[in-house]
Amino acid sequence: MSINVALDGPSGAGKSTIAKAAAQKLKYLYVDTGAMYRAVALYVLSNGKNPDDENEVELALDNININLIHTDEGQRIILNGEDVSDKIRTPEISMAASKVSAIPKTREFLLSLQKNIAKENNVIMDGRDIGTVVLPQAQVKIFLTASSEERARRRYEELIAKGEKVEYEDILRDINERDYNDTHREIAPLKKADDAIEIDSTSISLEAAIDKIVWTIKNVVTKDTRYETPQLRPVIKGKKTPLWKRIAHEFLRLVAKAIYYTYLDLHFEGVENVPKDGSNIFASNHRSYTDPILISLKPKVMFSFMAKEELFKKNIFFTLIIKMFGAFPVSRGKGGAEAIDKSIERLNKGYNLVIFPEGTRSKDGKVLKGKTGVALVAAMAQVPVIPVGIVFEGKIKFRRKVTVRFGEPIIPKEIGVDDCSSKKLRMLKNKIMASITELVEGNVNKL
Ligand code: DC
Repeated sequence: MSINVALDGPSGAGKSTIAKAAAQKLKYLYVDTGAMYRAVALYVLSNGKNPDDENEVELALDNININLIHTDEGQRIILNGEDVSDKIRTPEISMAASKVSAIPKTREFLLSLQKNIAKENNVIMDGRDIGTVVLPQAQVKIFLTASSEERARRRYEELIAKGEKVEYEDILRDINERDYNDTHREIAPLKKADDAIEIDSTSISLEAAIDKIVWTIKNVVTKDTRYETPQLRPVIKGKKTPLWKRIAHEFLRLVAKAIYYTYLDLHFEGVENVPKDGSNIFASNHRSYTDPILISLKPKVMFSFMAKEELFKKNIFFTLIIKMFGAFPVSRGKGGAEAIDKSIERLNKGYNLVIFPEGTRSKDGKVLKGKTGVALVAAMAQVPVIPVGIVFEGKIKFRRKVTVRFGEPIIPKEIGVDDCSSKKLRMLKNKIMASITELVEGNVNKL
């Protein structure tokens, strides 16, 4: 059975741009039904008919043949054998399309064409009545909105960029008029289906809206909760861990310090970059199992880090030790959701969190490719990320030189990461990995 996604909403909410990009990502067919009404309007106007006159439009329909062609660049619309995809994008056609679309016979005329495409293909179909009339059985229904001022602003900037002379006020007036026509007509008015998910694109970026829609579709179609759109869950700084835990931790830290400073030739650099309070992420390269302890020797705040569930099953003594050092178990194969929930829970309790973005140890010290999880937690929680580079020098075991270097904190919001869109997460991850690499390689080069 084909998968049908109905995407409805007012003019200018970004439906076509967003649906096109989402369809490309999902390898679905993108169907722009507005173009069909526009083609009818073009025929009516270019044959000297009145788009307001029901009889004239109905008669004109007998002479109209519409086809859609899907190319790599997207949908092309063919009116009586001619590709009119570009001709239909004028303000006159927009207004006439809104008028002819209010005539029942026009809608009837286009309905079977729209239904047939959806029967045979996985589609994202964009329009006004897709979720309510054309594809009421669609597995996913999305209603995309944005304020009329924001839609007018986007349209205005688009036209100005094209070099057209337009006034913002005129565009806003047109949009309001079309909204009124589309929502007040008797037949198939623009309306959110009861079971549609509403997405307001007024204050989110285009990328964020695309991600949100792709994730919503994947979530509904595959029932996979990994595709639920991650929401911001900002951590309030200043939470303190209970006193007894801090005392126990301080005691352990002193014991570990005595052992580590005896066993290793240990150096710390950039300690001034370490915040005095908790709820920070320390993102480090991963050299050995003792890395979390190495990092937590210097800052006086409680640390926490995730560890494979299996590590907690070795023996009671080992479990106790790693738990005292703040480890919490994460089961493999459960996807990232559990790890993310637990990480944010820890940050909320005031712990600093150590994360190794490479996901695995790099024994030769080269920084490997990072995973996005670290950026996701930092972006969701909106907490600073302190990059850490750990460098082991020489081969000898006893008194081996080890340098732990802390870099300048990366504050997600300061670099524009204020949502969890994949573009922003990638940007944050790249920044974190570049800082870690710089800290590690900077040190190596100095040898
Ligand atoms: O999405 P658009 O602006 O290209 O659509 C042009 C007009 O067509 C719009 O004013 C409303 C109408 N339309 C409709 O009534 N039903 C649809 N499914 C799609 C568009």
